[in-house]
Amino acid sequence: CKKKDLKGKKVLITAGPTVEDIDPVRFISNRSSGKMGYAIARAARNRGAEVTLITGPTNLQPPVCVNVVPVKTAEQMYNAVMEHFKDVDIAIKAAAVADYRPETISNVKIKKNDEDLLIKLVKNKDILYDIGKLKTNQLLVGFAAETNDLLSNASIKLQNKNLDMIVANDVTMENAGFNYDTNTVKIIKGDGQVIQLPNMLKQELADIILNYIIELKIKR
Ligand code: PMT
Repeated sequence: CKKKDLKGKKVLITAGPTVEDIDPVRFISNRSSGKMGYAIARAARNRGAEVTLITGPTNLQPPVCVNVVPVKTAEQMYNAVMEHFKDVDIAIKAAAVADYRPETISNVKIKKNDEDLLIKLVKNKDILYDIGKLKTNQLLVGFAAETNDLLSNASIKLQNKNLDMIVANDVTMENAGFNYDTNTVKIIKGDGQVIQLPNMLKQELADIILNYIIELKIKR
């Protein structure tokens, strides 16, 4: 029987990919299924939290008793996060946000011709970086999806984005990362302590991540 140790806490979670249109039939996105973020949303709800889940398009069943906010683009996710962030106690950003979007979206299907096609991509705003600057009492937890130099890349994100903790996810590992029901991660705390976790179900990992977040809160 689970303790309701997040009772009375407001938790904001982002999940899934963002989708950036090129034209009415084509888009840029990534391999995120939303499973990691949805697992955290269910775990936080089960522990008594009032959960808002801001999610890019996924094939997952929306969790019950969770305030689900569907978005498509990085800009929509940015606006939704900004709207909710000031009211929450904990924000956990498991979403895989597109770093770039096409500069223009064609209203009609782009026709093939004999030339190569160049699509200019412009930078999206970094949501986590911006809420890191706005942070007051909130605990802010990021994820880092990496294919190389896991700990150094994730530690730089922890520092630059003013996070309390980051979940470093080597997405090249077997049965881990995008779309698997299981994951293998290292947790890096704000003080630099690294916790290496074995491969496990994302649903089990969700509870372990929450345990470490609650520990941070108690130490404050
Ligand atoms: O969804 P699943 O299939 O279950 O896969 C889970 C996962 C691999 C997507 C997840 O575990 C994960 O690692 N999520 C973060 C993916 C990511 O975009 O990492 P990043 O290193 O590019 O970004 C670092 C952090 O900044 C993330 O918390 C991200 O949400 C945030 N970010 C990034 C870019 C941006 N423009 N705005 C952001 O807020």
